[in-house]
Amino acid sequence: MRKSVVLITGVNGEIGHGLVRALARKGVDNIIGIDLKGVDDFIQERTQDCLVGNILDRNLLERLNAQYEIEAIYHMAALLSTRAEFSPVIAHEVNVDGTLNLLDLAMEQAQSRGKPVKFFFPSSIAVYGLSSLEEKSSAGAPGEDDHRHPQTMYGCNKLYCENLGNYYGHYFKRLSAKDSGGLVDFRAIRFPGIISAHTLPAGGTSDFAPEILHAAAKGEQYSCFVREDARIPFMTMADAIHAIQLLMAAPQKALSQGVYNVRAFNPSAGEFLEKVREYYPDAKIDFVINDNRQSIIDSWPEDIDDNKARQDWGWAEVHDLEKAFSEYLIPEIRSRYEQS
Ligand code: SER
Repeated sequence: MRKSVVLITGVNGEIGHGLVRALARKGVDNIIGIDLKGVDDFIQERTQDCLVGNILDRNLLERLNAQYEIEAIYHMAALLSTRAEFSPVIAHEVNVDGTLNLLDLAMEQAQSRGKPVKFFFPSSIAVYGLSSLEEKSSAGAPGEDDHRHPQTMYGCNKLYCENLGNYYGHYFKRLSAKDSGGLVDFRAIRFPGIISAHTLPAGGTSDFAPEILHAAAKGEQYSCFVREDARIPFMTMADAIHAIQLLMAAPQKALSQGVYNVRAFNPSAGEFLEKVREYYPDAKIDFVINDNRQSIIDSWPEDIDDNKARQDWGWAEVHDLEKAFSEYLIPEIRSRYEQS
């Protein structure tokens, strides 16, 4: 009999770390990870096996398909928004073709098991696109179906993959005699910027907030690449993981849609720095604007409406801005940097 496992792609990335930490704490001991590069000891110790490889490698996925019975897939591997702008074709391959490969693996698994495979997909506020600061201001907190005109390759990829997941979940090969509806149980969250106490993001555009905080904690100089008045929503990594777990645990019949917004707080970059200075008054942070990265932030909404997630599966953040700092970021960051 094949062994039943949970598959996490991009396992060595930021959300991968948070997810493995949380699943291991819950006693999940059948995680198989994939990452392009080798994984660190933290991940190695908390997973059953980790494969070094590319999600575009169909042979690798075929081996996984043959070897394991996969009960759930958390597909975290992606090129983030800033990095994707430098290599848009590669971003498309990884973010779209890679997701297609994983959805197809989920479908094959579900068909051979004869029961659904849960599929978690991290989408992003990058699916929104606002054409001017006036439009950003008047858009306020858009719902899931508003203003979906992404201006980045990453945003285009995420929006398309939301639709692809919906297709695999409900309409896959609808002309064939076999009914595959419901076999891929696709669930997606559109994340705002995420701030972790333990890791730094790589290649995103919301990175300025975690970078300000970690630089201040380490006593390093940092130049923030967006204006002080730049405003997008954020949440802590702890809440991001909490949201994934809530959504994945919700009964399918409670879900009125496949893709949900979540958010926790939305300070401007300047307000975020003020908060950081409450704890690190000598933080050496200035603002040196990168107009191109700023234009991406300007195209993302200043907030998003997450009422559907609150209604359907009881989403509620643990950390507002105040608690994010006092109960999560500062205590964990202090123990981290003071140990090293
Ligand atoms: N944090 C991501 C990025 O900045 C957005 O989802 O690319």
